[in-house]
Amino acid sequence: MRLKRLILLASAGVSSGQTLAEVLTAQSATLSMLNSWLSSQELIFTILSGAQGVTLLAPSNDALTELYNSPLANQLAQDPNLLTAFLAYHVLDGIFFNSHFVNTQPHLSLPTLLDIETFSNVSGGQRIISTSQNGAVTFFSGHGAQAAVQGADYNYAGGTLHIIESCLTIPGSVTNTLIAAGLTAALGALRRCKMEDRLNTDTDVTIFVPNNDAFKAIGSLVDGMTLEQLTTVLNYHVVPGKVLYSQQISGGGQALTAEGAMLNFRTLDGELFVNSARIVQPNLLIANGVVHVCDGVLNPANATAAPNPSASTQEPAFAGASSTDGEVPFTSAIPTVTSPATSTVSGVKAEAREAV
Ligand SMILES: *[C@@H]1O[C@H](CO)[C@@H](O)[C@H](O)[C@H]1NC(C)=O
Ligand SMILES: *[C@@H]1O[C@H](CO)[C@@H](O)[C@H](O)[C@H]1NC(C)=O
Repeated sequence: MRLKRLILLASAGVSSGQTLAEVLTAQSATLSMLNSWLSSQELIFTILSGAQGVTLLAPSNDALTELYNSPLANQLAQDPNLLTAFLAYHVLDGIFFNSHFVNTQPHLSLPTLLDIETFSNVSGGQRIISTSQNGAVTFFSGHGAQAAVQGADYNYAGGTLHIIESCLTIPGSVTNTLIAAGLTAALGALRRCKMEDRLNTDTDVTIFVPNNDAFKAIGSLVDGMTLEQLTTVLNYHVVPGKVLYSQQISGGGQALTAEGAMLNFRTLDGELFVNSARIVQPNLLIANGVVHVCDGVLNPANATAAPNPSASTQEPAFAGASSTDGEVPFTSAIPTVTSPATSTVSGVKAEAREAV
């Protein structure tokens, strides 16, 4: 078992106060199932109970009922590495009280103890994203899965614990994430340029992924692009060696792309833009970094393109491009998803299958 990181934390020493077991027992109305599950995992429970300076995101009975009724339950029972990864992803590296998530950044990235290479290639541990609205906190994990906090700040000797209404989803590969999110034009384009494998296995990447409408808007141009031209354009959407969550770019600035030119970030009227493209879905977590979905294809020959924040749709960054009706570019070879892997359970399961 790879519990290196947890064991390291456990050796930091034991402090006084309620134990984890005592908190779980006291909250048995919502945490009895987690309590008995952990009790059956003696080694993990011992290590978890001794871990210092952590925040445990504890799935409620409802969350675990959903998990037990899913195929993932079997996978977890049969694969100790997956089980360890799954639990490690529910432990934040640091003590974060509820007040930390409220009224700070709109999207806050928080490190977890998941740092097993089979499941994550994000330096410093895979992250989750927190958001808050009117004081209510929700965590985002892989495939954009959401887990609302239903009880917070149950302190114990090792740190604090928040109760969540759904289990977290371990972020998946670029491929699975784009398919589940219906970003088929981008996936088809990456596949055509043979960039998919590289992006799935790199460590620490940030990828700006134009949505299907963005590719359609320059449809007149993309079909005529050579493989080399398309590769150049796609590389301009990738920031290698850095995981830039929205938190890191909302203050503006630039980032160097795999293509060699810079991307420019701006926040205007509370909205985040990359060059002239609006980021319509930030912080879609992937196994090796983060994806931000944007509404325009970025043009390396037009890095100075600036957004018009009052326009709901931005003008394409490619001069003379126009939209083609009908088919979305690059999608002919991409399977259509009948049931998108958006739920907690199917997302992890897809990854588990991949990892075997
Ligand atoms: C992490 O990177 C290694 C080396 O490239 C690769 O073998 C592994 O599959 C990657 N893990 C994930 C979850 O993508
Ligand atoms: C650059 O982008 C703007 C839209 O932001 C567009 O009007 C202009 O034509 C583009 N220039 C080139 C050279 O593609």
